[in-house]
Amino acid sequence: MKQLITVNLKTKKYDIVISQSENDFFTVLEKAVKTNTFFVITDKNVEKLHLKYFTDLLKQKGFNVKTAVISAGEIGKNIKSLSSLYDSALEAGIDRKSCTVALGGGIVGDVAGFFAATYMRGINYIQVPTTLLAMTDSSVGGKTAVNIKGGKNVTGVFHQPDLVWINSTFLSTLSERHIKNGLAEVIKYAFTFDRKFYEYLSDMLEEGTTISPKDFDYTIYKSCSYKAKVVEKDEKEITGLRAVLNFGHTFAHALETITKYKKFLHGEAVAIGMLFAIKLSLELKTCNIETYKEVENLLYKAGFILNTKNDAKQMLSLMKKDKKSIDGNIKFVLIKDIGKAISSYVKDDVVLSVLKNFTEENK
Ligand SMILES: NC(=O)c1ccc[n+]([C@@H]2O[C@H](COP(=O)([O-])OP(=O)(O)OC[C@H]3O[C@@H](n4cnc5c(N)ncnc54)[C@H](O)[C@@H]3O)[C@@H](O)[C@H]2O)c1
Ligand SMILES: [Zn+2]
Repeated sequence: MKQLITVNLKTKKYDIVISQSENDFFTVLEKAVKTNTFFVITDKNVEKLHLKYFTDLLKQKGFNVKTAVISAGEIGKNIKSLSSLYDSALEAGIDRKSCTVALGGGIVGDVAGFFAATYMRGINYIQVPTTLLAMTDSSVGGKTAVNIKGGKNVTGVFHQPDLVWINSTFLSTLSERHIKNGLAEVIKYAFTFDRKFYEYLSDMLEEGTTISPKDFDYTIYKSCSYKAKVVEKDEKEITGLRAVLNFGHTFAHALETITKYKKFLHGEAVAIGMLFAIKLSLELKTCNIETYKEVENLLYKAGFILNTKNDAKQMLSLMKKDKKSIDGNIKFVLIKDIGKAISSYVKDDVVLSVLKNFTEENK
């Protein structure tokens, strides 16, 4: 079944097509991009699994197709990969009229998006996400980035795609661990925007149930709808609405940095970060104990391992470098109730004491 979500921005409008049909993709593509040449960027894993399928599709329609492959994983999300893409593109004759395709997970999406935003001062690109995380979050909204030594996603630009094609059949080759990774972002939408969706997910994740294709398509649709709405209202994270999507992320980014992107997948770190944020919400009395337990229960139900031991002071200092921190004051997304979130600056001593307890509990 095809579902279409249009992202209506002030300066641009684009479609998210959720469909397993290639015809649906081409129908929307024809309207979205006028080009003869596609530059398909993927990573080493997706290259083996899905690159031929995708490039054959484009070739069958008579397009010129050039490809480039970056290293898989957070290790490939750096300036070196970006620089190699500029070289490959130039060598392959990619010009201003060409269109980039990000075929892969969130890492390919972020790097390919950054490439498309800056190559020849910006060219078109489309997102073809292949992980649940990318289908439900990163492929929509135009945030692009690479990591630097000092932190994750520190360098990047906003560059909206011209089309997002979500074909959930790509998920058939994705590992359980990476499915769960994507679920963290899905759960985040429920915690911050929608109690009904929270209840739906809670039923879906009853012990022993595997997620059906129908559930996947519904969770993708719901997630993209929220993401699209938020991006429409606050494209560049100015009013604070889009910042709500960072629930759990201030802690998560510090955790990813402190563990050198090796120990946790992004979603796994976000799951722990959401538990930290709800503990902080409880400490600051923005929510009550029932809400706290609802958050904790769903995270456990989804099977996340929620303990980690890290130096509280070091975590605090990393959180101060977060993009949402201003003059060293850290802004957190806190929960009032399931479906209701707020952004608020929190004093260092409160953060530190919750961090210390968090670490103590996990000893
Ligand atoms: N731009 C945004 O708005 C935004 C939002 C959320 C996350 N992100 C970023 O996304 C990144 C994480 O994305 P991710 O979790 O998709 O990671 P990823 O891109 O590394 O993909 C996960 C792994 O799965 C492999 N893979 C991809 N598709 C596959 C498939 N269909 N079958 C089998 N294997 C497949 C990849 O090669 C990789 O090893 C982080 O860097 C995060 O910062 C960005
Ligand atoms: Zn995230």
